[in-house]
Amino acid sequence: MKLINKIGIFDSGLGGLTVLKKLKKRFPEQPFIYLGDLAYLPYGSKSDKTIIERSKKITDFFISNNVTAIVVACNSASSVALDALRALYNIPIIGVINPSIALATQTTKTKTIGVIGTQTTIASKSYDESLITSFRNENHHYKLISVACPLFVPLVEEGWEQTDITYSIAYKYCKDFESYSDLDTLILGCTHYPILIQTLKKVLNDYGHTNLSFIECGDAVADKIQDWV
Ligand code: DGL
Repeated sequence: MKLINKIGIFDSGLGGLTVLKKLKKRFPEQPFIYLGDLAYLPYGSKSDKTIIERSKKITDFFISNNVTAIVVACNSASSVALDALRALYNIPIIGVINPSIALATQTTKTKTIGVIGTQTTIASKSYDESLITSFRNENHHYKLISVACPLFVPLVEEGWEQTDITYSIAYKYCKDFESYSDLDTLILGCTHYPILIQTLKKVLNDYGHTNLSFIECGDAVADKIQDWV
């Protein structure tokens, strides 16, 4: 029996539409409501307290609109607010961190995974923790290389994804991956980053990563909510 009515999806802004698009494609019959908290964008540089408060307000709004399950599409909110939401609300709530780690660990052959995200996401170490808890009872031998890319969100918001300035900044950030020749999988740990995928492919290719698998949180979440819909 189907237990879920409408699914609410939220992000700090429009980036989460990359997640909604993937979910709508996978589950065309499922009703979704999307909320982009543009008044508070970007979350990636806000305090944990602010992100948690906003996430609660949005969850209250969703529940008052008959939403019965929530996808926290924003990586920054998933990193710092998910536990607080789950403690307060008695409906299924899923974030993007654990699903992305699950998909990345299924994808990598070399066990060397990169993750790029906002300052908040990377500083929270949520991806590292997820990797540890996923393999709690095993010696997993995965290597996770994390790089914060705080300028990517404003560049995407400006629509500058293919410009010289964005390439220069991407070369600077991605240099941290250059020495990891066995890197074969990169998690796009922010909803805005799929929009930069062509830029990232070119830059990482120039650093010798010619055959990288890119993990998008929309695909990762779709795998996990199959039981809901
Ligand atoms: N949507 C946010 C995320 O996925 C990035 C944008 C922001 O900083 O608000 O982390």
